[in-house]
Amino acid sequence: MRIVDLIAKKRDGKELSAQEIEFFVKGYTDGAIPDYQASAMMMAIYFQDMTDRECADLTMAMVNSGDTIDLSAIDGIKVDKHSTGGVGDTTTLVLAPLVAALDIPVAKMSGRGLGHTGGTLDKLESVKGFHIEINKDEFIDLVNRHKVAVIGQSGNLTPADKKMYALRDVTGTVNSIPLIASSIMSKKIAAGSDAIVLDVKTGAGAFMKTDEDAIELAKSMVRIGNNVGRHTMAVISDMSQPLGFAIGNALEVQEAIDTLKGKGPADLTELTLVLGSQMVVLAKKAKNLEEARQMLLEVINNGKALDKFREFLANQGGDASVVDHPERLPQAKFKIEVPAKTSGVVANIIADEIGVAAMLLGAGRATKEDDIDLAVGLMLHKKVGDSVQLGDALVTIYANREEVSSVMEKIYSSIEIAERGQAPKLIHTVITQ
Ligand code: URA
Ligand code: CA
Repeated sequence: MRIVDLIAKKRDGKELSAQEIEFFVKGYTDGAIPDYQASAMMMAIYFQDMTDRECADLTMAMVNSGDTIDLSAIDGIKVDKHSTGGVGDTTTLVLAPLVAALDIPVAKMSGRGLGHTGGTLDKLESVKGFHIEINKDEFIDLVNRHKVAVIGQSGNLTPADKKMYALRDVTGTVNSIPLIASSIMSKKIAAGSDAIVLDVKTGAGAFMKTDEDAIELAKSMVRIGNNVGRHTMAVISDMSQPLGFAIGNALEVQEAIDTLKGKGPADLTELTLVLGSQMVVLAKKAKNLEEARQMLLEVINNGKALDKFREFLANQGGDASVVDHPERLPQAKFKIEVPAKTSGVVANIIADEIGVAAMLLGAGRATKEDDIDLAVGLMLHKKVGDSVQLGDALVTIYANREEVSSVMEKIYSSIEIAERGQAPKLIHTVITQ
């Protein structure tokens, strides 16, 4: 087999066989195929697309390029949730203990944040003592005994994806549905769960800016998962404005605690219940979504979900008393209110711009090497559709420095106040095939 022939074949719109895809992925990962040929192949895929069969084969070739996690020693159906990334997306922190409180195993592998979106690991590390440096046996043992644990991403998971993603980044081939879908799904499949619930975000703060694109990506990922034997479904949800009120690591932990107490923001609570219900049904613990939702509400109301969060934090060395004493989470030195300059209705809160404002404070990383400040961030007081009076606090800035004029400016330019405004629909659609 010669890679030049495979490039030409894809360039001419023909379908590559499983062996040909495997040859390309393996050859590129181990260095036998150089960047310039891999770039040409990615560009050919970008323009010619891939069939469902090719997408599934590409995904499995990437899965097989490195380590995979074997979760078969954990009893029950393991359901994972993946979000394509958003601003202030606190759902994983709520969902992990919530679903585990129903005795559904949550074996979570999580990453750090980059750019304007936050990472679950960073958020959890704002709880004093919490650590993810546990070995695979401890991880499996924790999930078997307590139903929930979080581990950091293994170094050698899908090396093909790491290399291909880096190359796509510099060759104008990131925005290709088959390449994005196989990239995301390869990591989820390598992480070992039996079933996967995808939260595909759409809007300004999301990777996919329109519903059309989000639906196309969701369908591609759902088909890949189901074609390789992992029961997969997707929820398309709004990310035109940030989710909930809190954006920032410790602030989001507190928001998750509030939500587990049944006192969280309406949108975060609803999205958690929608995604959670799907997880409960995939785990075969409920017959239908309505029954699943009632079960989730019950463990919120009777305190079991919150107890599970305490247990989870303590198991991994964390100070579980933060659940009752949020003041023990990292605190910012300065709280600065941002007052409305006019009266009206909030018409728009541009999610990615707000994410950038939080990053400017130090809540997020501009590059992988940056340190982050767990205490800082933003609390929104208004969401799209809320009315405001001149002088009302729109946002509180939590900062560890007094000079925040650039952050303030960013916030003003991201929040539009007009005569009219309407809250966006949170759940756009559900994709099951
Ligand atoms: N996220 C991924 O993991 N891969 C992509 O290709 C795009 C977004
Ligand atoms: Ca939030």
